[in-house]
Amino acid sequence: MAREWLDRWREGRIGFHRPETHPALMRHWPGLGVRPGTKVLVPLCGKSLDMRWLARHDHPVLGIELAAEAIEQFVAEGTGDVSRYQQGAFAICRQGSVELWAGDFFHFHVDQAAEIGAFYDRAALIALPPATRQRYAFHLAQLLLPGSHGLLISLSRAPGDEASGPPYHVPPEEVRELFAPNFQVTHLEDGEPEAQSGFRESVWALVRRGPLT
Ligand SMILES: C[S@@+](CC[C@H](N)C(=O)[O-])C[C@H]1O[C@@H](n2cnc3c(N)ncnc32)[C@H](O)[C@@H]1O
Repeated sequence: MAREWLDRWREGRIGFHRPETHPALMRHWPGLGVRPGTKVLVPLCGKSLDMRWLARHDHPVLGIELAAEAIEQFVAEGTGDVSRYQQGAFAICRQGSVELWAGDFFHFHVDQAAEIGAFYDRAALIALPPATRQRYAFHLAQLLLPGSHGLLISLSRAPGDEASGPPYHVPPEEVRELFAPNFQVTHLEDGEPEAQSGFRESVWALVRRGPLT
């Protein structure tokens, strides 16, 4: 799977990348109640411009991305000095208040997450095969303190219309099942089905409950 993502980035097959800030982030983030200054974890971040929006809204950002290529593109397309350092297995690239960690999200350890108080997942959960999604939800819970807020943008399809991914179809019931053990889960909205793919986005607010189960 890792090889497949690296190939996609090398070959420029990144149809998931949006050239603009996601409207659901702009619409819903302000209502979550995340205090300015809170560091936001963005798992499987790609080179999402949503990270710049969060940074502009007073949130230091910590993105984690497997493909170093994505991180290089992000900083090349941005402005400002870039500093680089190493933290364990991760090569880190910082531009302004966005730091991007190159490596596997599942290797990111809770000790490295000390200052994180919120998260933003757009197209992270839906990038993972079914068997890995449970691990993702648990790993995310481990990294966050109780009370941490998050916004999740998932994708689903009409029943019977599921195809293999990524992107994977993650039905609303699965989002609830995956996160309910450790998060309070609130459905915020559904997008319109896309004409070509039949996918529709669903947007969720999550609050980390404690202790871990
Ligand atoms: C569907 S894309 C979404 C990227 C970004 N969230 C966005 O909205 O544009 C999924 C990204 O996750 C990265 N990825 C996949 N598995 C990963 C892992 N285990 N750790 C870190 N990044 C991963 C891929 O390289 C890819 O850039």
